[in-house]
Amino acid sequence: MNSQPHETGKRSVPAHVAIIMDGNGRWAQARGLDRSEGHVEGVNTVRRITEIASELGVRYLTLYAFSTENWNRPQQEVATLMHLIGIAIERETPDLIKNNVRLTMIGDVERMPAEALERLRGCMARTAHCTGLTLNLALSYSSRWELTDAARRMAADAAAGKLNPDEVDEQTVSRYLTTASMPDPDLLIRTGGDVRVSNFLLWQIAYSELYFTQTYWPDFSKDDFRKAVMQFGSRERRFGLTGEQVRGGEISDSADR
Ligand code: IPE
Ligand code: IPE
Ligand code: MG
Repeated sequence: MNSQPHETGKRSVPAHVAIIMDGNGRWAQARGLDRSEGHVEGVNTVRRITEIASELGVRYLTLYAFSTENWNRPQQEVATLMHLIGIAIERETPDLIKNNVRLTMIGDVERMPAEALERLRGCMARTAHCTGLTLNLALSYSSRWELTDAARRMAADAAAGKLNPDEVDEQTVSRYLTTASMPDPDLLIRTGGDVRVSNFLLWQIAYSELYFTQTYWPDFSKDDFRKAVMQFGSRERRFGLTGEQVRGGEISDSADR
């Protein structure tokens, strides 16, 4: 799907929103609580933001829930997070079905504990028929892992005669990524005050609009999400063209890169 031409100009609702959900630990520490309390509260925000994204007509919501680098956190925190993910998925699945939300995931998920993975896969199977929002969780994900894995599989396919190196283009690369079935994110939000992308969707955010907020993830509200979407709607996406070209609409659909 990312082989589709970009949509230039203004569009009020982004088809794909990606979020770096950051600030759980600091939210908890500011209250004298254990970091894990921040993760517990962060799960409530996931629920809230899934609801509002769905209500607004967003098609894909990709949430960065756990990075490859996060495996290097203290073992206790990692274990708590994995446990929480499993519990939350089990608890939320009926509502996901009710709200027509389909769960998908991207990342090196084989590294996850069997119990959490089993619950995630169960939820994916039970929501596979849902046709509303796609809630895509990035788990044990990093962009460099993804690109390395894609390169490895492309090389293997080329060696096996299934891929002609002369025909490899940008669309080919996109097809080997974990996001092959989705459009690129239109909007990338990062909560928690840091202004960096932390190894998230590096290829896919080439032309995403970026939105950074100081708000810690547990405090991120439906109105905060609406505000980000509104700001997105007021931006002019040019994809390398001039403003006149975009506003004239003369090549808006042929501006494929
Ligand atoms: C984001 O919150 C959640 C994960 C990375 C799993 P953090 O745990 O990174 O919170 P801060 O950035 O330390 O406040
Ligand atoms: C990014 O947050 C990863 C997730 C939100 C899952 P981090 O807290 O790991 O990012 P850095 O370490 O501050 O860059
Ligand atoms: Mg953080």
